[in-house]
Amino acid sequence: MKITIIGTGYVGLVTGACLAEIGNDVFCLDVDPRKIKILNDGGVPIHEPGLKEIIARNREAGRLQFSTDVAASVAHGDIQFIAVGTPPDEDGSADLQYVLAAAKNIGAHMQGFKVIVDKSTVPVGTAAHVADVVNAALAERKLDHGFSVVSNPEFLKEGAAVDDFMRPDRIVLGCDEDEAGERAQALMRRLYAPFNRNHERTRYMDVRSAEFTKYAANAMLATRISFMNEMANLADRVGADIEAVRRGIGSDPRIGYSFLYAGTGYGGSCFPKDVQALIRTAADNGHDLKILNAVEAVNDAQKSVLVDKITKFYGENLRGKVFAVWGLAFKPNTDDMRAAPSRPLIAALLKRGATIRAYDPVSQEEARRVFAMDLKGEEDALGRLQFVDTQYEASADAHALIVVTEWKEFKSPDFGKLYRQLTSSAIFDGRNLYEPEALAAAGFHYEAIGRPFVTPSRPG
Ligand code: UDX
Repeated sequence: MKITIIGTGYVGLVTGACLAEIGNDVFCLDVDPRKIKILNDGGVPIHEPGLKEIIARNREAGRLQFSTDVAASVAHGDIQFIAVGTPPDEDGSADLQYVLAAAKNIGAHMQGFKVIVDKSTVPVGTAAHVADVVNAALAERKLDHGFSVVSNPEFLKEGAAVDDFMRPDRIVLGCDEDEAGERAQALMRRLYAPFNRNHERTRYMDVRSAEFTKYAANAMLATRISFMNEMANLADRVGADIEAVRRGIGSDPRIGYSFLYAGTGYGGSCFPKDVQALIRTAADNGHDLKILNAVEAVNDAQKSVLVDKITKFYGENLRGKVFAVWGLAFKPNTDDMRAAPSRPLIAALLKRGATIRAYDPVSQEEARRVFAMDLKGEEDALGRLQFVDTQYEASADAHALIVVTEWKEFKSPDFGKLYRQLTSSAIFDGRNLYEPEALAAAGFHYEAIGRPFVTPSRPG
C-alpha cells in the first residue's frame, strides 16, 4: 500500500520504517531539511534499537524514501499519517499548530480520496478540527475530494519502539460511521492485517474514544508510578521495604507486576505532557481531575527525593563534594533527555556547590546540549559539570555515586572497585538496583527509594 508519514520524529520514523518493513511503499516527509539530509545520508537522528538497520534495509529495497517535498508527499500516500510533534503550550494543553499545518497541506494538494490518520497524541476532538481544516483548504480550491480522518494513537515505548510496533498489544482505531469512515476503516484494516494474523488485536471504536484511550492509558500508568512513589516515601518512614511490597501486591493478577517501580519520578516525552494535557482538557470541560493533579504533584516532588537524602547526609552546602552520576537519559536504551529526572537533580546539586561527573552510555551528547540550555547564564555551575567516558571514570575519587537511570551495565558493578574509589563509600540509588543488606555488608552507606537503611559494617 502507498503510505505517507508526515513528521520524521520518533513516532513517524518508527511507524514509517516498520510499515515499509512489512512491504508497504512509504514516503516520509519532514519540513526540517537537516533531518531529511541525515536520513538520506544513511544516518538516523534518534537512538532506537533496531531502527537503523530497518531503515537501511528498506531504503535499499526502494520501499522507504525521505523528502521535504510536500506536494509529492500528499500525492504519494492513499493513507496520510500525521505524526508531528504536539508540544505542551504554556497552559499545558497540546499545541496543535503542526498537526493543523499538516492537515492544511493535505487539503491544499490532495487530488483524490485520502485517509488522514492522527498518529500524534492529540486531545479529544482534534480529528474533527483536522477535518475542518482540510475542508476549508478544499473549499478554497473549489474541490470536493472525499477524505476521512481516523484516530490511531501510538503506544510505543522508547527503547522498545520497533518491537512494540511489530508486536503490538493492541491497535486502537477510531473511525467515523459514515461512508467515508467505512472506506477508511477498510483501508486501515488492510494495512494492519499482518499484525492481526493470529489474534485480532485491533480495537475499533468511535474517533473520540480512540483519542481518549491514549490519554487514559498514559494517565493510568503515570498514576501507578506516582502511587508507588508515594508508598515508597511512606515505606521509608515506617521502615518497610517497597521492593517486598511491590512483589507482594504484584502477585495479585488484578494489580500485576508491571509499572510498579518506585524511582525518581517519571520523565520522557509522553507522561508529563499527556498528564498535563488531560488535566487541561478536563478543566476546559469544567471538570477538576483531582487524581491527575495529585499524580503530577507527587511526580514533581519525587524529583527531589534523592537531593533530600544527599543533603541530609552531607548538609546543604555541597561545595567541594564530588558526585558520580550514572545514567542521564530518562530511561535506559534511549538518548532522550526530555523531562529526565537527572536534569533537576544535577541542577540542584550544582546549585549547592557540588561537582558532578556524569556518565551515560548513549545520551552524553544530548545531555551536553540540554544542560548547556538548562544552565544558561550559570557558567560557574556548568563548569562543575563534567561528562566522562566510562562509569568508573565518573566514580574515581568521587565522594558518592548516584544512580539515576537503570542501564543494564549498572546492575552488577564491581563493588570492590567502587568501595576503593568512593571517598565516603556512599551510594544513592534512584532505581533500587542493589540489595541494602549486601551493600551494607560490603561497607557502603547505601540509600535507595523506599528501602530500609542498613548500617554499614566495614568489610573484613
Ligand atoms: C510511555 C508509554 O509507556 C507508551 O505506551 C506511550 O506510547 C509513550 O509513553 P515511554 O515514555 O517511552 O512510553 O517510557 P516508559 O517505559 O513508559 O517510562 C516512562 C517513565 O516512567 C520513565 O521515566 C520511567 O523511568 C518511569 N517508570 C516506568 C517508573 O518510574 N516506574 C515504573 O514502574 C515504570
